Amino acid sequence: MNATSIASDAASTLLSVDQLKVHFRVPGGGHGGYPWSRKATLRAVDGVSFSVRRGETVGLVGESGCGKSTLARAIIGLAPVASGSVRWLGNETVLPDARRDTSCLRRDVQMIFQDPLASLDPRMTIEQIVAEPLLTHRKDLARADVQRRVLTLLERVGLNAQHLRRYPHEFSGGQCQRVGIARALIGEPQLVICDEPVSALDVSIQAQIVNLLRDLQRELSLSLLFVAHDLAVVKAISHRVLVMYLGRAMEFGDKREVYGTPRHPYTRALLSAVPVPDPAVERGRRHLLLRGEIASPLKPPSGCAFRTRCPDAIDACATQIPQPVMHGANGANSANATRVACIRAGDG
Ligand SMILES: Nc1ncnc2c1ncn2[C@@H]1O[C@H](COP(=O)(O)OP(=O)(O)OP(=O)(O)O)[C@@H](O)[C@H]1O
Ligand code: SF4
Ligand SMILES: [Mg+2]
Repeated sequence: MNATSIASDAASTLLSVDQLKVHFRVPGGGHGGYPWSRKATLRAVDGVSFSVRRGETVGLVGESGCGKSTLARAIIGLAPVASGSVRWLGNETVLPDARRDTSCLRRDVQMIFQDPLASLDPRMTIEQIVAEPLLTHRKDLARADVQRRVLTLLERVGLNAQHLRRYPHEFSGGQCQRVGIARALIGEPQLVICDEPVSALDVSIQAQIVNLLRDLQRELSLSLLFVAHDLAVVKAISHRVLVMYLGRAMEFGDKREVYGTPRHPYTRALLSAVPVPDPAVERGRRHLLLRGEIASPLKPPSGCAFRTRCPDAIDACATQIPQPVMHGANGANSANATRVACIRAGDG
């Protein structure tokens, strides 16, 4: 499925995240040089809204520590939600208190992790690792059927029958990630959350794994939430892109709009740092340097979280938290309009 063929109506929405906040209570914020004397609130995710449609890949980008993994974990109930909601097929699954029911996500949503070797149980063979989710969720299947499905999927991800009886430590990082992908897909999930699935791999292997994920996404009409630092990788695989900064969503929308006409100053800065392969084009480009360091999520700036580094900041940015507003070349209601959290996004 390509970006244009994805229906944009609510019926195609699988996952809907609304104003999600994940706050951690951490040591710090104390007086008189005793930082452990008081607990402080770390706003890892601070009011993020976005959605994932059936059969699309949403790329999630932003600098280290901006809350990508925490957001991904909160979706499946693995991080403490302070407020907001996560809806799966319209049903609320994760709520800010004990009323949490992620049981409907267990089969439909799977995760692939950054460190492929660490995410596989070293005591289990590849066959056992890949079969485990099926044995848990499809007790109706005969053993021969499970074995057949495991082998078919292993072959699809580039492994073979000789790998069945081996253990994770016998494999390279790329092969381990192929096992992780097979394990995630064996139960036929609808959404796979990929948290930096290639950042721990050699550059030459990264492209192979990204291409494999992209091919599988198309073949199986899967939805992917693809977390990565590398904007070129996200561009290659995503239909829509969510840009996060300091726990907040800065820009969210169609990949071609976000990359072609970035409307948020942070998106522009991130993209201008990505080198262009053509040296002639690269020489003529103006790079927007991000000044300063990312602020602490323990003490985010007032107003816009990005204002301490924003080249376009004005006085009002210190007092107003910018709310996401739709912007598009063909109008705010056009199919490709993007949601931008910047009070100056509409300025000529
Ligand atoms: N369990 C936790 N307890 C306290 N703070 C946490 C916890 N998990 C994450 N954080 C903090 O939340 C913030 C967001 O972390 P997170 O790992 O989600 O960022 P990230 O965008 O995934 O970063 P990276 O790109 O380095 O993986 C960071 O400041 C991190 O230190
Ligand atoms: S709201 Fe202000 S500080 Fe924030 S991105 Fe827009 S111009 Fe920059
Ligand atoms: Mg992370």
